[in-house]
Amino acid sequence: MPMNKMVLAANANAAGSHVGEWRHPDAWDHPAANIRNAVRLAQIAEAGKFDLLFLADGNGVRQLDKPDLFRATSPSDRPGVFEPVTLLSALAMATRHIGLVATATTTYDEPFHVARRFASLDHISGGRAGWNLVTTSNPEDALNFSHSEHVARDTRYARAGEFAAVVKGLWDSWADDAFPQDKASGTFLRPEKVHMLDHAGEHFRVRGPLNAPRSPQGHPVIFSAGQSETGKDLSAQHADCVFAIEGNLANAQRLYADIKGRLPKFGRAADAMRILAGVTIFVGETEAEADALFQELEDLVPPAVGVDYLSKMLGRSMRDLPLDEPMPELDEEHVGHTGIGKAILRVAREEGLTVRQTYQRILPQMGGNMFKGDARRIADIMEEWFTTGGCDGFMIAAPVVPTGLERFIRLVVPELRRRGLFREEYEGPTLRDNLGLARPANPFFPS
Ligand SMILES: Cc1cc2nc3c(=O)[nH]c(=O)nc-3n(C[C@H](O)[C@H](O)[C@H](O)COP(=O)(O)O)c2cc1C
Repeated sequence: MPMNKMVLAANANAAGSHVGEWRHPDAWDHPAANIRNAVRLAQIAEAGKFDLLFLADGNGVRQLDKPDLFRATSPSDRPGVFEPVTLLSALAMATRHIGLVATATTTYDEPFHVARRFASLDHISGGRAGWNLVTTSNPEDALNFSHSEHVARDTRYARAGEFAAVVKGLWDSWADDAFPQDKASGTFLRPEKVHMLDHAGEHFRVRGPLNAPRSPQGHPVIFSAGQSETGKDLSAQHADCVFAIEGNLANAQRLYADIKGRLPKFGRAADAMRILAGVTIFVGETEAEADALFQELEDLVPPAVGVDYLSKMLGRSMRDLPLDEPMPELDEEHVGHTGIGKAILRVAREEGLTVRQTYQRILPQMGGNMFKGDARRIADIMEEWFTTGGCDGFMIAAPVVPTGLERFIRLVVPELRRRGLFREEYEGPTLRDNLGLARPANPFFPS
């Protein structure tokens, strides 16, 4: 997509993003591993001309130690979901244009498997695949992969850099014209058009070649969301798109300039990357309607579940604290494994929030950002972020699936179009076409 149009991505978790969401009367019944809902959600987002669907993922069921939250579930715990690339392969057959982006971990997977899965998805979807590269945020996932504890951050990121280079090398195993499949001559493939990777590094030894032809996009689009210094460097070196989670415009602008400023170090141009701001959007016909939906969802979360959720976000138990007393002073260095815990403590301290007020504050946006209001107000905020160097587009979680997404498409998308900020039609058949990103040349077979 040309840079003057914003990118819109939809969270494809059919259980939504708010802890109370699945219980809302408008939410789909039986959202666990429900293929009909997933297809419907994809088709709604495609009718709205969204660039892509995004499936976050992890490989462990979470919150087993928090009984109330475990029973009620929170969207990112995913106790009953599909394996994401399997699901996106099915959605590829039910859609024609929308990009299909799934998460896979570089810490507990193998580069060959990941290269193969996403090349396959790219072929199956006609060039609409994307890989969200993560090093795994949930420490307990380690327990499902023969580790007794999470791999340390430095090792995770060192492995991730080598992993990404191997995956890209495998995607370049074949020249684009390596498979003539000519019945008359008996030439299925041209042996001179294969490149053996023969990678031998600190973490991986991979001979290659990949057992798939070069895919329609050359390389499926790579996403990442690391916000640490090493995470940002990894993105600047390897990612085509980055998910950012800053809570206000000034911080988003700083992060945007920081990440894009790192691209030249890796020989890349600033327009080789799209940065998408993650946000939950509550939109109504009126401000009052958006406020009412917001409150309905808050009321669906009983205090015990809310406190467990706060404990999850801070990475320590808050269960024994009085609900209506101020939040205790906690050491910022010892909350959670990401910057989210620190941000929550800062807000609680600055605004003098109680325990109850703190969990209520984080429920709607999972510790991330939130926009709320009528269509014009939402479009104003999105326009400001987009035109002042805050982001190139948005990764949108809509409260209550599917009605929240339908409402965004009915109310906000036309307003964005009126302002010339969002597409009328898809630009081309591949996700790269729609994002305005070039198809990578194959360094082993220059044309
Ligand atoms: C929008 C968004 C989506 C993310 N999705 C996942 C995910 O699906 N799986 C995962 O393990 N981590 C996910 N993360 C976490 C990041 O991969 C990363 O661990 C986190 O942003 C902290 O960055 P750091 O590891 O560089 O400190 C996501 C982060 C953001 C902002």
